[in-house]
Amino acid sequence: MSMVIKRAFWIFGTVSIVFLMVITATSHSVSAQEKSQDGWRVSPRKAKIINPIPADDASLALGKKIYQRECLECHGKTGKGDGPEASELEKTVGDFTDPKMREQSDGAIFWKISTGRRPMPGFKKLLTDEERWHVINYIRLAFNSPKK
Ligand code: HEC
Repeated sequence: MSMVIKRAFWIFGTVSIVFLMVITATSHSVSAQEKSQDGWRVSPRKAKIINPIPADDASLALGKKIYQRECLECHGKTGKGDGPEASELEKTVGDFTDPKMREQSDGAIFWKISTGRRPMPGFKKLLTDEERWHVINYIRLAFNSPKK
């Protein structure tokens, strides 16, 4: 084979490999992005944590107060994510009346409230553990999303 043809093959090969590497890298970053945008995943270990507070009248009354003070501005009176602040946010606020709330354990919701996800603040330091369980009891009852 002549030198020119060999060189042409070499260039073609190198260009193809670089091309494939670029394609692989970009498709990988796209799927990573989709993952972080779609589900908000909670580790199974965290999701298994049991709500220690029974949803009695006292807990529901406390939960309601906390909800009105800390959550209503974004999540709204109806729990559908239509609070007065919601339209200012860069993201849609979750809908507590959506059946997907029922599919989540109290432990999973507890973890989400504790850690938050921008623009929602994490409440681990803003509320006590008990207060976070009370607000879960309240959300389940008020927005008709009892645990499955
Ligand atoms: C500043 C606005 C804001 C406040 C205040 C806020 N949230 Fe959120 N919340 C959001 C947004 C936005 C999302 C969606 C976040 C996402 O999907 O990344 C969300 C998501 C959630 C979710 C997950 C819903 C799902 O479908 O999995 C729960 C549970 C939740 N919030 C509970 C609360 C509770 C309880 C409070 C009050 C203690 C609260 N939030 C306060 C904005 C807020």
